[in-house]
Amino acid sequence: MKKTITKNETETFNLGQKLGEKCRGGEVFALIGELGAGKTKLLQGLAQGLGVKAKVNSPTFNIMKVYPIKRADANRKLKIFCHIDAYRLKSAQDLISLGVEEFFNSPDTVTAIEWGEKVKEIWPKKATVIKIKMLGKNTRSMSII
Ligand SMILES: Nc1ncnc2c1ncn2[C@@H]1O[C@H](COP(=O)(O)OP(=O)(O)OP(=O)(O)O)[C@@H](O)[C@H]1O
Ligand SMILES: [Mg+2]
Repeated sequence: MKKTITKNETETFNLGQKLGEKCRGGEVFALIGELGAGKTKLLQGLAQGLGVKAKVNSPTFNIMKVYPIKRADANRKLKIFCHIDAYRLKSAQDLISLGVEEFFNSPDTVTAIEWGEKVKEIWPKKATVIKIKMLGKNTRSMSII
């Protein structure tokens, strides 16, 4: 487990960016943290680190948003960032219906799930869990498990 304390949203974004730069494809992240913890902020950084050009916003109303990755990078063949927000889901089965397992299993895709605890039963074994705790107004602890 690696724990990092961030003191403002930029530090959270930067942590996400570093994480994104390390991804090689096939990664699945399950984010756990209350309302306003910084899940989306971390994933905006992650998307930047992956090479997503579009602005990443919370997909709360869409459940799932799929972003293309255009950056030509010899070391990694990333094509898609799949951003899921499970907040409004009634059951994990709904995610299966959206075809999420195909994203989990795709070696050119990185998937991240906000409110991951709601769909725990469908996490792939390889999933990385990120727990965010609000320690103060602008202080967050981020545990990568
Ligand atoms: N250290 C920090 N890291 C991240 N966000 C912070 C931090 N300090 C303050 N904030 C603020 O907290 C809010 C985090 O919002 P964000 O949308 O990323 O949270 P979220 O966990 O995705 O919320 P939701 O559950 O609504 O999806 C932003 O308004 C941001 O400015
Ligand atoms: Mg969010």
